[in-house]
This record gives sequence, structure tokens and C-alpha cells, in this order.
Amino acid sequence: MSAQAIDSPTTHRAGAFGNATGLVCRECGSQSPLGPFYACPECFGPLEVGYDFPAVTREQIESGPKNIWRYQPLLPVPADIVSSPNTEPGMTRLLRAANLGRELGIERLWVKDDSGNPTHSFKDRVVAIALSAARELGMKVFACPSTGNLANAVAAAGARAGMRTVVFIPHDLERPKVLTTAVYGGALIAVKGNYDDVNRLASEIAGEEEDWAFANVNVRPYYAEGSKTLAFEIAEQLGWRIPDQIVIPVASGSQLTKVDKGLQELIKLGLVEGKPYRIFGAQAAGCSPVSAAYKEGLDVVRPVRPDTIAKSLAIGNPADGPYVLDVARRTGGAVEDVTDEEIRDGIQLLARTEGVFAETAGGVTIATLAKLISSGQLDPTQETVVLNTGDGLKTLDAVADRVGPTATIEPHFSEFLKTGLV
Ligand SMILES: Cc1ncc(COP(=O)(O)O)c(C=O)c1O
Ligand SMILES: [Zn+2]
Repeated sequence: MSAQAIDSPTTHRAGAFGNATGLVCRECGSQSPLGPFYACPECFGPLEVGYDFPAVTREQIESGPKNIWRYQPLLPVPADIVSSPNTEPGMTRLLRAANLGRELGIERLWVKDDSGNPTHSFKDRVVAIALSAARELGMKVFACPSTGNLANAVAAAGARAGMRTVVFIPHDLERPKVLTTAVYGGALIAVKGNYDDVNRLASEIAGEEEDWAFANVNVRPYYAEGSKTLAFEIAEQLGWRIPDQIVIPVASGSQLTKVDKGLQELIKLGLVEGKPYRIFGAQAAGCSPVSAAYKEGLDVVRPVRPDTIAKSLAIGNPADGPYVLDVARRTGGAVEDVTDEEIRDGIQLLARTEGVFAETAGGVTIATLAKLISSGQLDPTQETVVLNTGDGLKTLDAVADRVGPTATIEPHFSEFLKTGLV
């Protein structure tokens, strides 16, 4: 969207964006009105949502719906959001991971398991906010470029809201992610290129089609706010307390930066006690532009060409990469990366110890957690939360060569005895 578009803001009903007051440039701080805008008209920096928060109490939140809408006052959505059809994501399990912790030598470990969302990834959170913005701005088409999980979430949310959807994916995406998008019946365009090519194409279309809302492009400031709900839920589920350390996967980097923003808002509003916390980013070695910049001490992120089994994290030119570096450095965290074999190990480790089957992105965070502990970057005596952001059923190929039946036998007791299990 051009700077020109910002000069003529779209109209919307009062309260369409809740307590949000405008869009603020993350680089120069200049203000833009609430609308389908994502780049600052002054400096082209990314815009994010600014608020004028009222007093919000724990009791008020606790008496709300059992999904992300309990945090409505802290999100850019109207007070009546619950009455418009959406997928109602959130309030996923926060599991005390004692077995995994024992194995990794860390005492107080939790897994925030976002595979429990309606389309089985954290993307349902961000999409619910983007859908609300699209609706309030009078957009006609709900669209996105996606590495897979966003595709699922947009297609499902659009179906439920009765809004036309057009989803763009790289042509070589995992087959389950293609099918679990196509089943919702919207348009699905497979683009012969990688995610960064798909994203460029989507930005071009967004510039041309004024009534198309691309969840992660022209309504990105709203979309991104959805990831704050991970921070809100973790704090609430810990009894209104912030953990010492959080490990988060990084693709575009949006999720990691917004978990930090969410924690800051909770402190500012007095919903939790202020305390230091450290945020760690996790990438696949085959697509680790942010981790590379972190290790080299750089402020800029050099784009790479991804080559990893963690396709959901395969963004070679991450929009929020520099802000991930800021958060990791400011909070005393780090950004680390792990190989495809370590990712497979991570998936199996979490499954074997906690009964949680993560997709490759979850394998990345678990393997990164292990690496951060063994390298001494993460303190094993501190309370730690690791995110599992997606479901292993969508990336079965990652473990297909590693697991299978223990034995295949004829249906006779004597055959069973030969397995050596008793
Ligand atoms: C399962 C999963 N986890 C994490 C991410 C990373 O999200 P972000 O682009 O906000 O860094 C993605 C992005 O597609 C994803 O699909
Ligand atoms: Zn600016």
C-alpha cells in the first residue's frame, strides 16, 4: 500500500479496532490512521498498532470466553468480536514438561502446545485478528502468502466467516498442508518459487487490489498483534506470572517480537509484576539468517535461500529479523539454529517424553532448547517455556524414515512371544 493511500484513510465504524488508536512506525514513531496500511509514509518502516488502554483487571479477563477474545481490550478488535463467526482460537494447553526437563537437565520446564488450535498451529491466533480487521475495513477477499500453516488458518477462518479466500503457497509444500488448505474450498494457488517469491507476488497483488486483505501483508499490523495472546496465556496460566526464559521459533520473526510486546503490555497494565525475562529465537540451520546475524553481531539480516525440512520456518528474507535481534539482545537471550537431523531428534524427543507430536517447527524449538542448555546460553535453573507452534500430523515425512511398527507378526501367540516384549 502506498503512502498516498494513507492520505485518504478508509472509514470504519466507531470501536472497530477496540482500544487501538492508530498505527505507529517502529522506526521513526510517526503516526498513521487505522486502515489497511503496513508501511510508514515517512520512512517506509513497518507499522504497528498503538493503543490507549483502559484499566483492565485479571478478574475481567478470567471471566471472559475460553479463547483469545478474553483479551479483547488488549487487541485491535471490537468489543462485540465474539458475535462474529471466527475459529475461536487460543487457551491451548500449558504443559508441565517434567519428563523432557529431566532428560535435558532443566528443572522447571513448560511446553505451550499450540497444536491444539482449530487448524493445529498458532496461526489461528493471528488470522483471527486479521480477519476482524479485513471485515471492519470492508474488504471483500481474505488472502495470504503462506509457508503452510497460515494457509490452513486463512482458508478455515474465511470459510467460517463466509468470506472469499485466495491462498498462495510455494508449489513444493508438504502434501498434508496442501490438502488441509484445499479442503476448505477457497482458491489455492501453488506458485513455482520459494516462499520469498510467493510473498513478493502477494505484495504486488495487494498493491493493485484495494479490497483484498492479505493477512500478513496489508493487514499485517493487526495480524501480528494476535501473537501477543501467547504471552498473555502463558502469564495467566502460570498464575499471572512471567517465566524467566522463553524459546520461540523464528520465520518472519513476527511471533517472537509480539510475545515480547505482549509481556511488556502486561507489565505496563499491572496485570503481572515486572521482572527481567530472556527471549530466545530458534531457526533451522538450512534457513538461519537471523541466527547468523546474531552470531556475527550484526544489526541487519542478510537474506538466504532456504533449504530445510522445516518448511514452515523457511523464510529467507524475514521482515521482522532485525527486531528479533533487538529483542534477543535487549532481554539477554540469543538466537540459535539446529540441523535437520537435530530437528527430527527434537520431534522424537518431545513425542517420547511428553506425548506431544510437534511439526518440524516444534522440532526446531525443542532441539534449539537442548542446544542452548548444552552450550550454557540458557540457564537450566530458571523457569522456562518452550513453544510448540504446530502439529506433527502435517509434517509426517520428517519422521517417516525413523519410526514404524516394532514388529509385524502373524496373529498367533507364539509369534507374539518372538517379539521379545515379554
Ligand atoms: C508452525 C509455525 N511456527 C512458527 C512460525 C513462525 O512465525 P513468524 O513468521 O511469526 O516468525 C510459523 C510461520 O509460518 C509456523 O508456521
Ligand atoms: Zn517511519
